[in-house]
Amino acid sequence: MTQTPLNIGVLGAGRVGTAVARQAVRAGHTVTIATGKPAADIRLLTEVIVPGATAVDREDLRSADVIVLAVPLHKYQSVDTSVLRDKVVIDTMNYWAPVDGFMDEFEAGTSTSEVIADFLGAARVVKTLNHIGYGDLEVDSYPAGDPHRRALAVASDDAEAKSLVSAFIDSLGYDPVDAGPLAAGKAFENGTEIFNGRHGAARMQELLSECSRVLCNA
Ligand SMILES: NC(=O)c1ccc[n+]([C@@H]2O[C@H](COP(=O)([O-])OP(=O)(O)OC[C@H]3O[C@@H](n4cnc5c(N)ncnc54)[C@H](OP(=O)(O)O)[C@@H]3O)[C@@H](O)[C@H]2O)c1
Repeated sequence: MTQTPLNIGVLGAGRVGTAVARQAVRAGHTVTIATGKPAADIRLLTEVIVPGATAVDREDLRSADVIVLAVPLHKYQSVDTSVLRDKVVIDTMNYWAPVDGFMDEFEAGTSTSEVIADFLGAARVVKTLNHIGYGDLEVDSYPAGDPHRRALAVASDDAEAKSLVSAFIDSLGYDPVDAGPLAAGKAFENGTEIFNGRHGAARMQELLSECSRVLCNA
């Protein structure tokens, strides 16, 4: 890894949280992982599934440089917002009514991450990692410059947070592509060509531009 190692906190020890945590450990970052339960409850799981990461209580994530939020979207209101206050938070979550149930706030046409940012209040929300399957994250990773390298879109209203997260995405083995503000995250939500596909950086840029002209009305 060429980037500076970061302290990465992961909230949610399910499919996505553990896959991101494993890839982050592999990239040389210091990784802590928590759920809503005490650290002891996920210590064994962490040792076995994410060797190199440390299970912590959720309050201990506050010392992380970046916190990856990987809980089911329908549970977002149960997240302890005090842990995420003023933190750079990667929102990996997606809305899918058959799984999450019908939720009015996610049917209104805004990006789901705007709803999450409103809920979290002071957090510096960055949307990315939602549009890659958890099973792909580790196997689709390539070094910078490799022609097979896949791109991941990154959206945020906070330029500094977006830059930090983009460096993190690069360290995981993906080309970060700036998607613009959080509202533009609609371009890579469930049902879009970006969400359903595997794209290099040039094609990702094209798809994001098409979206900003058509879908996002920007
Ligand atoms: N499927 C994919 O490939 C994919 C890819 C990218 C993004 N996503 C999105 O990522 C999100 C997470 O999906 P997943 O499949 O990883 O879910 P999952 O396997 O069900 O895991 C969810 C994790 O979140 C924890 N959790 C639940 N409520 C919490 C809370 N209030 N505070 C802290 N931790 C909490 C759970 O802990 P307990 O078990 O203790 O409740 C569990 O460890 C979803 O929105 C999904 O759409 C999915």
